[in-house]
Amino acid sequence: MKNKILVTGGAGYIGTHTCIALHEAGYEIVVYDNLSNSSREAINRVSNLIGQPIEFIKGDIRDAEAMRNVFSSHHFFGVIHFAGLKAVGESVAKPLLYYNNNVSGTITLLEIMAEYGVKNLVFSSSATVYGDPETLPIDENSKRSCTNPYGQSKLAVEYILEDLTVSDNSWSLIALRYFNPVGAHSSGQIGEDPNDVPNNLMPYISQVAVGKLDKLNIFGNDYPTVDGTGVRDFIHVTDLAQGHVAALNYLEGQINTGKRDSVGFLPINLGTGKGTSVLELVTAFSKVSGQPIPYKFAERRAGDIASCYASADKAKNLLDWQAKLSITDMCQDSWRWQRMNPNGYYIK
Ligand code: NAD
Ligand code: UFG
Repeated sequence: MKNKILVTGGAGYIGTHTCIALHEAGYEIVVYDNLSNSSREAINRVSNLIGQPIEFIKGDIRDAEAMRNVFSSHHFFGVIHFAGLKAVGESVAKPLLYYNNNVSGTITLLEIMAEYGVKNLVFSSSATVYGDPETLPIDENSKRSCTNPYGQSKLAVEYILEDLTVSDNSWSLIALRYFNPVGAHSSGQIGEDPNDVPNNLMPYISQVAVGKLDKLNIFGNDYPTVDGTGVRDFIHVTDLAQGHVAALNYLEGQINTGKRDSVGFLPINLGTGKGTSVLELVTAFSKVSGQPIPYKFAERRAGDIASCYASADKAKNLLDWQAKLSITDMCQDSWRWQRMNPNGYYIK
């Protein structure tokens, strides 16, 4: 058995897939989640998939006492920190909620980590920190700027992590900047379970394909892209999960070879390096599912950018990690999850 890892937000979409990858890689995991955007059923399904119960603690990262209880009863090598709110539109309407949950919550987590001498962290950052990129593909040295409170909260945490490593070089803090996570576990047992009508493209397409929604609105067909629709770097959530294992392996490697001080604050893109347009994704999904995906072109969505895709070189060179799964795999797995769970996890 390898080191023990605390997974905050481990009941969520990316967290559940990462728990499986961590278990398969031999890590012991403890999940801490307030279930504000997830369900116990997701945890049950992860337990079923790995064939043993996982240790789950219901709690909020802003609750210092509850966090102390967790840290005092476990010896963690590090934390993978997924816990956060992620809806861009909601963040515009409720900025205080987002800063409180995502920024204050992370500060509390870091304070408790410091108290218990746990100084290794992998943080869920986002390509949103690049704003509207000046050049493509986007590498980690690109300028950072954000236009909404959700993005600002991710950027604020990055700055906090950076400052922390300057103040004390025994912290090793990796910020994984995800591009567009999609897909689901190949079993069809776990996947993305949005509340209400989805904001994001892949769950929206899946719900049109399964007949829950009438048609897709494609936001803009006059972007300077291959077919006028937006271009994104869609990455399979299983590949993303493996990226977290690779980040932990890297941290362990640095520490075991006496190079702890060299990690500091390390931002790394997790993307495929390939852009796919909205129309290309619709076509691929329709082919995989055999379902028509009716759509109409609509106005551009406020705040959207034309194109966004990663330079994935740093992850390859440093973490020896590369995305393996294709757009077809992403569509197949999203479709299986949607078909097998037309109402998500049911139990909220
Ligand atoms: P998710 O909502 O499915 O998972 C987040 C989990 O955190 C949920 O289970 C939720 O209940 C929990 N949580 C939220 N606030 C909490 C708190 N205060 N205390 C304890 N638990 C709390 O989202 P996801 O898609 O799995 O995203 C995981 C992380 O990755 C988030 O930080 C998100 O901002 C980031 N991210 C996601 C995407 C994406 O497109 N999904 C892209 C870039 C970055
Ligand atoms: N789109 C549509 N119709 C829809 C939904 C989306 O045409 O119903 C288009 C968007 O206009 C965009 C593309 O599909 O061109 C992708 O949109 P998503 O909402 O799926 O994803 P975004 O790139 O806008 O944002 C996502 C996450 C953010 C994260 C960002 C970068 O939602 O949280 O990726 O990681 F910050």
